[in-house]
Amino acid sequence: MTIAVYGASGHTGKLVVDRLRGEDVLLLGRNAERLRGLGSFEVVGLDEPDRLVDVLRGCDVVVNCVAPFELHGEAVVRAAIAAGTHYADLAGEQSYIGRIFDRYDEAARDAGVTVVPMVNDGGFPVDLLVSVVAGRLERIDEIVLAHRFTGPTALSRGSGRTGLANLDLFRTGGLVHTGGRFTDAPVRTSSLLFPGGDEPSPVAKFALPEIATIPRHVTAGHVEAVGEADVVALFAAVTPEVVESLPENPGPDGGFVLVADVTGDQRLRGVVTGQDTYGTAAAALAEAARRLAAGAAKPGVLAPAQAFDPVDVLDTLDVTWSIS
Ligand SMILES: NC(=O)c1ccc[n+]([C@@H]2O[C@H](COP(=O)([O-])OP(=O)(O)OC[C@H]3O[C@@H](n4cnc5c(N)ncnc54)[C@H](OP(=O)(O)O)[C@@H]3O)[C@@H](O)[C@H]2O)c1
Repeated sequence: MTIAVYGASGHTGKLVVDRLRGEDVLLLGRNAERLRGLGSFEVVGLDEPDRLVDVLRGCDVVVNCVAPFELHGEAVVRAAIAAGTHYADLAGEQSYIGRIFDRYDEAARDAGVTVVPMVNDGGFPVDLLVSVVAGRLERIDEIVLAHRFTGPTALSRGSGRTGLANLDLFRTGGLVHTGGRFTDAPVRTSSLLFPGGDEPSPVAKFALPEIATIPRHVTAGHVEAVGEADVVALFAAVTPEVVESLPENPGPDGGFVLVADVTGDQRLRGVVTGQDTYGTAAAALAEAARRLAAGAAKPGVLAPAQAFDPVDVLDTLDVTWSIS
């Protein structure tokens, strides 16, 4: 079983390689100097699509850790499908993830390839958790999703570049899913009580990635996503200068709380908490890679909960999760 890691020289790419210790791993990227010393590697640029397909033909699965996905992600998806190699990525970009479903599902199914975008510490556990919550309700009227950063660690420079490449998305807040379709309608929620909080925090529409996946496997009247208003404003105002001031390799103390409030014939709240954003993302991607390499999922572009057993995978991540 060979697992390729594209973008292995990046902050999260290196953490993923660490988590895959003991497996046969092939590191891929554009720059030999950045890959040297990290393991067995091959230099292949995204502007060499035929060679990338040739390299991937020898691998069971490729995990994509490039940044930003908006600019560079699709080249690896196309090569994986052409090579017949299963694919997972770290993307947290709502537009990119939606595009992968819309453009590549049929080609992936025809090729017998499983493609799972958004295997990270945010949208990934929430997608799995909401499918578990949904299984406990007869009818769902509304799902409100929210993320809160709780640790001192800053975002990585790669995440900052990703925010900049998706600036329009973060300025508009992205999509909601209502009445059976994706629209740019406003959100209904203006304040939310986060777990452990004393009073509700002001929130605003936030382009969380799981908006692009949850409506594909959960039937709900309305699905929307929000973030704390001051954090949403920071994402909407990011500049190249801010991005360059971010650390390339942030520390392991980036805490997070992820909330899914689901209302229907009952009101249930799903919560995921974690202590290390990038470490958890790497653990999720390594777990998904092993499962995809073992042929765990059907072909096509799949949401996390369509590809994997939700409870089984949630229990392997470095997070705590609950439903109340
Ligand atoms: N919860 C979440 O949503 C979540 C969590 C973790 C990470 N992520 C996402 O994962 C991505 C990676 O983050 P990171 O901090 O690890 O970024 P990073 O350190 O900047 O790494 C980016 C990687 O992409 C490679 N790359 C960039 N442009 C390329 C190009 N044109 N051709 C080939 N390779 C290219 C870089 O190669 P070089 O080394 O040669 O420059 C590097 O290996 C970001 O989009 C981030 O937002 C999301």
